Amino acid sequence: MLKLSNITKTFNKGTVNEKRALTGVNLELADGDFVTVIGGNGAGKSTLLNMIAGVYPLDSGVIELGGVDVSRLSEPARAKYLGRVFQDPMRGTAADMWIEENLALAKRRGQRRGLAWGISAEEKEEYPKLLASLGLGLETRMRSKVGLLSGGQRQALTLLMATLTNPQLLLLDEHTAALDPKTAAKVLKLTEEIVSERHLTTLMVTHNMADAIRLGNRLIMMHEGNIIFDVAGEEKKSLTVPDLLQKFEEASGGELTNDRMLLS
Ligand SMILES: Nc1ncnc2c1ncn2[C@@H]1O[C@H](COP(=O)(O)OP(=O)(O)OP(=O)(O)O)[C@@H](O)[C@H]1O
Ligand SMILES: [Mg+2]
Repeated sequence: MLKLSNITKTFNKGTVNEKRALTGVNLELADGDFVTVIGGNGAGKSTLLNMIAGVYPLDSGVIELGGVDVSRLSEPARAKYLGRVFQDPMRGTAADMWIEENLALAKRRGQRRGLAWGISAEEKEEYPKLLASLGLGLETRMRSKVGLLSGGQRQALTLLMATLTNPQLLLLDEHTAALDPKTAAKVLKLTEEIVSERHLTTLMVTHNMADAIRLGNRLIMMHEGNIIFDVAGEEKKSLTVPDLLQKFEEASGGELTNDRMLLS
């Protein structure tokens, strides 16, 4: 479903601010893989997701999605294959538009037709049902402005929107990190449900090691721009947080102090 071959990215090349963010990443995801991604600050996790989404041009390497080489496609051209949810609940939805309009826009992602044609009767039946599945009471607020929702409600809506067109790949970048623990747990549960119901291939960055172990069928750890640990199936399930910490310390030479991974 996703194949990354030797992906490299250096920011600000040739300046004092030069930063090698990705140093030759290889990764292959099978259809339906749900992969959690952990690693310290600046390890390259967000950059990896940004490169897949086409936010920055590649320095070298090849990105294939469903067997198609998308390495040179622009970010908008790749958007129709991808669903994305970021850490910031303010991104991913339009605050000044109604819930129903946001969903309708998500549904038309990658199409030329805008909202000028209006929202169909079919959609008006479909959306409340989808919203009801979130269990947040949003189904009765189709014409509330999204800006009035709480961070958790907004992130749940973003998740729904990102997965509405069954993307080939779902990219989640610490999408619950800005939420309070209770809301974060709820949005994570929703994530699990949506991913398994729709059999979505997913990459989920988290700084919570317990979540990284509990969710998904595979876990990768990044450090200094590359994947240093890749574990799946039963071996992943039997991992413990101390195991992961030890792996990380081995790889980073004990640099782990003061890292967010430790705080969760
Ligand atoms: N647009 C950019 N311009 C310059 N440098 C960048 C840019 N994006 C990322 N970097 C640098 O690339 C490195 C990897 O950053 P990245 O955001 O991918 O890390 P991360 O693993 O997501 O970390 P965090 O856990 O803090 O989110 C960092 O040194 C960062 O400063
Ligand atoms: Mg990041």
